[in-house]
Amino acid sequence: MANERDVIIACDFKSADETIKFLDRITRVRNEVVSCDDIGFGAGRPYVKIGMELFYAEGPDMIRQLKARGHKVFLDLKLHDIPNTVKKSMQVIGGYGVDMVNVHASGGVEMMKAAKEGLLLGAARFADKPKLIAVTQLTSTDEETLHNQLLIDRPMDEVVKKYALNAREAGLDGVVCSAFEAAEIHEACGADFITVTPGIRFAENNRDDQKRVMTPAQAKLAGSDYIVVGRPITAADRPIDAYTRCKEEFL
Ligand code: C5P
Repeated sequence: MANERDVIIACDFKSADETIKFLDRITRVRNEVVSCDDIGFGAGRPYVKIGMELFYAEGPDMIRQLKARGHKVFLDLKLHDIPNTVKKSMQVIGGYGVDMVNVHASGGVEMMKAAKEGLLLGAARFADKPKLIAVTQLTSTDEETLHNQLLIDRPMDEVVKKYALNAREAGLDGVVCSAFEAAEIHEACGADFITVTPGIRFAENNRDDQKRVMTPAQAKLAGSDYIVVGRPITAADRPIDAYTRCKEEFL
């Protein structure tokens, strides 16, 4: 069966209030709250990503609000601790009803297995099980940092591939990676191992602080399963148009 594919909006806002105001803009047409079905996006409201800043500011209530409004939620907290602590924390997160969550693959296979166990225990009452994915290496880590600070002497692409294989061995569903790495990761870990790729820009966009970017159409060709798009949508004059364009180019 082909992997589910979608556009995930990175909601890097400071507060629940700002987030809900933005989501209202993207889901309201002529002042009526509409579901994405009505504007031709398929089932449900946009898939959203909530990161550490917003989660630490607003707590789990933010997740409950988003779920109550019909959004799928990727909770981007990148857990990394001893297996027992990660398992117990993931059990709590599973109870929120999130759709996707992540850990650092550098925590090792045992930690990732514990994360998955905890998550599934926590999500036992939900029919749709959350996906658990791993961060291989942060895109802010370059070869220089890898070799001279982390003392890892293998090339970055080898490290990324090995960490993805570790994630698969632990039973995780996929990894966060650059769209440039998606094909290699699918080749190494299988077509059903999902690649969730940030660093997406429209052809005419400013790159902001992203170094290697692809358009939604290029990410589709590269084999990304989910694209994570922040500022090209959240900072657009008409976010709903930018979101629609992402969907049209990517799906
Ligand atoms: O605004 P922009 O499209 O650059 O947002 C990308 C989102 O993806 C941000 O929330 C950022 O933290 C996240 N991200 C990333 N690169 C990674 C992992 C996550 O840009 N390697």
